[in-house]
Amino acid sequence: MAKSPAAIFTCTACGATHRKWAGRCEACGAWNSISEEAPLTTGPSGKGLGAARGRTIPLTTLSTEEPPPPRTGSGMDELDRVLGGGLVAASAILVGGDPGIGKSTLLLQAAASFAHAGLKCLYISGEEASAQVRMRAQRLGLAQAPVALGAETNLRDILTTLDAERPDLAIIDSIQTMWSDTVEAAPGSVTQVRAAAQELVNFAKKRGTAVILVGHVTKEGQIAGPRVVEHMVDTVLYFEGERGHQFRILRAVKNRFGPADEIGVFEMTGAGLSEVTNPSALFLSERGQASPGSVVFAGIEGTRPVLTEIQALVSPSPLGTPRRTVVGLEGGRLSMILAVLESRCGIPFTGLDVYLNVAGGLRINEPAADLAVAAALLGAREDVALPPDLVIFGEISLSGALRPVSQAENRLKEAQKLGFSQAILPAQSKRGSSPGLTVREMPDLPGFVGDVFGAG
Ligand code: TYD
Ligand code: MG
Repeated sequence: MAKSPAAIFTCTACGATHRKWAGRCEACGAWNSISEEAPLTTGPSGKGLGAARGRTIPLTTLSTEEPPPPRTGSGMDELDRVLGGGLVAASAILVGGDPGIGKSTLLLQAAASFAHAGLKCLYISGEEASAQVRMRAQRLGLAQAPVALGAETNLRDILTTLDAERPDLAIIDSIQTMWSDTVEAAPGSVTQVRAAAQELVNFAKKRGTAVILVGHVTKEGQIAGPRVVEHMVDTVLYFEGERGHQFRILRAVKNRFGPADEIGVFEMTGAGLSEVTNPSALFLSERGQASPGSVVFAGIEGTRPVLTEIQALVSPSPLGTPRRTVVGLEGGRLSMILAVLESRCGIPFTGLDVYLNVAGGLRINEPAADLAVAAALLGAREDVALPPDLVIFGEISLSGALRPVSQAENRLKEAQKLGFSQAILPAQSKRGSSPGLTVREMPDLPGFVGDVFGAG
């Protein structure tokens, strides 16, 4: 006789399966992530899928006459661009971010804007009472906006309401507070969040309602609990920013309906979030006199050029292992650049603490920032201030060569627009013509060091 299949234990962080429960997943090392799952049923005969025949599914070709999905713009350009040109009907969107960063503020403003654009909008708050949301709306000057408001955490009641109301857009703030009575798990647990998200995404697809889910981010920087929610939705946006700064950046990390990596820039003010249409000017606005270790980098965020200031500080270290502190860039990238400077240019940073910072709270993920970082490090080390009207970009390879980067022409145009008159970039960049800009092309890092700092 066939044995009835034993229960399996699955790690909710990495998906590895285990025979028995354990406090720590052996596969990924996560703690408290293993939960019991019902065993896979293999059909009455226990012989797997081959035993029972399914129906043949209809197959089609790849060509399509279907029009692109209809989109509605909110009128908030920074938001619409990140969405890929407006809100797509029946899409599911996850907006993640640290608590207190301004997600509820952003989405209330978005709801009001979409409502003014003609969509029927519903805002369900599971975290705050209706009165609190109304007070926020008043502060934002949106008290008269035609947005229907509800405060509820019971998913069954919410789905029934959505089914009756049939809104164009439903905002669920937040997915961690929702609970489904069909699942035996505490609200906020991975199982609940996953079940609630699945039901809401299904609703979106079936009924044509666009759904925006708010998700809090854990200390490790993931949307709390389930990465799985990220897989379920069409679009994942992160709302980020430094607590001390008023800048907020809405970043698309996944978008089935538009480019990923697009950003929208906002400023948190006393009356809500205001859009920043010229981020370069904002990120450079706090820049003082030319100083050693400060370099302007011409970067690309999504489809847009953005100029930022990269700052470095280098000082003798009292520690055996000197400090390497990075804000706004990847630590691994700094180590690589330091290693190339040392082995290809003979400039060691041993015994020196290195601090690197991107001013304004922006995060740069582009390798194109390498050359600007190297210039900032050298400027700080040699105590040399580079000209204030100079921008730098280029990728450094491990051999010390400089690699051309994409969209050189756009980067230069933005620099020129903001009043810069000199640029340094890798040789063979496709840079078009840039009259009014003195451009110097460098083949490799030693050449750059010799030319700019007179050493090498
Ligand atoms: P909130 O939208 O509640 O954050 P989240 O939903 O991500 O937890 O925003 C919280 C912060 O924003 C709070 O510290 C106050 C600040 N804030 C402003 O500065 N101006 C405003 O107009 C509003 C509504 C909030
Ligand atoms: Mg909130």
